[in-house]
Amino acid sequence: MARIELKGVAKRYGSVEVLRDIDLEIGDGEFIVLVGPSGCGKSTLLRMIAGLEPISGGDFFIDGTRMNDARPRERDIAMVFQSYALYPHMDVARNMGFSMEIRRRPPAERTSRVKQAAETLGLSALTERLPRALSGGQRQRVAMGRAIVRDPRAFLFDEPLSNLDAALRVEMRLEIARLHKRLGATMVYVTHDQVEALTLADRIVVLDGGDIQQIGTPLTLYERPANKFVACFIGSPTMNVVPATGRDRTLSLKNGAQIALPQSAGLERAAELGIRPEHIDLVAPEDADLTGTVDLVEHLGSDTNVYVSIGDVGMLMVRRRGNAPIRSGERIFLRLQRENTHVFASDGSALAHASAEAA
Ligand SMILES: Nc1ncnc2c1ncn2[C@@H]1O[C@H](COP(=O)(O)OP(=O)(O)OP(=O)(O)O)[C@@H](O)[C@H]1O
Ligand SMILES: [Mg+2]
Repeated sequence: MARIELKGVAKRYGSVEVLRDIDLEIGDGEFIVLVGPSGCGKSTLLRMIAGLEPISGGDFFIDGTRMNDARPRERDIAMVFQSYALYPHMDVARNMGFSMEIRRRPPAERTSRVKQAAETLGLSALTERLPRALSGGQRQRVAMGRAIVRDPRAFLFDEPLSNLDAALRVEMRLEIARLHKRLGATMVYVTHDQVEALTLADRIVVLDGGDIQQIGTPLTLYERPANKFVACFIGSPTMNVVPATGRDRTLSLKNGAQIALPQSAGLERAAELGIRPEHIDLVAPEDADLTGTVDLVEHLGSDTNVYVSIGDVGMLMVRRRGNAPIRSGERIFLRLQRENTHVFASDGSALAHASAEAA
């Protein structure tokens, strides 16, 4: 398996800079998930690692060897694309073993590797079927099987599950987690799906505008986002962010509400307060930071999303567990969990976090 390092890696198309100064060390056997808005360069980064796209600047290493100009075959990295075109006239087994056929590996080795991969992926009963006789999820597994049979040093996945329906996605997500456990392989995985990112990743890399915004474990990104972009990108429903000014250890909101925070550093640079919907409590009037009117209620069964209008502050979304008996038009009293309150400066950077300082 492989350790992958990018040092100051850049990608330019003519004068357009798509990725800038990317520094990333991926440990042997690590599961890295790349997330970011459409067009931020995720696929480009994967393709540069795979050797399908030239690297414009910086250095790229696999297991300590500089590989900027190595061809894909020399890199020995398998990539699974979103559109997993299988050969329609070849059965499952031949599709999976075809890369070995091209490399003229002995048939016995081919057969045994395909058999093993089919077992790993629960495809053993389907090896003689043609792709058209498979479901989407089964085809997706064949595409993964094709990668596994190669026994590569690392796997790259570019939104591999985005063509599948919700139930299949969950099934395949678990499949990929198990596969990672079993193979212990280095994996780099691109997704737009929050749950996939948070559940699969050892570490998540958040990209925006060609730059890495933050690298960290899923919990670090959720609890300690480095800036407003990461704060709002990670977590669903998204974090509430409202204007605020700060003095000493107290934030003032637009309606005059004062929120005292337990941080030691001053809040003079504060420009906005951020709080996730699940970190706002409903309390008695005398304990409230804010009083609002319920604008809209969404009942999701497992959760209830409550949109609360708070005068000059604007709209806050509050998330309650289960089926909360709340009606629109109701007056409601809110308290922000202090240890889960985020503060952003005018440039979007997060100010030192209260509980981080306490720790
Ligand atoms: N051949 C090219 N010439 C010029 N610009 C390109 C070329 N290929 C890609 N780009 C640009 O590079 C940027 C990054 O593209 P990329 O496909 O890596 O985005 P992405 O993060 O994978 O997006 P998505 O989530 O939509 O798949 C985009 O703005 C795209 O327009
Ligand atoms: Mg892409």
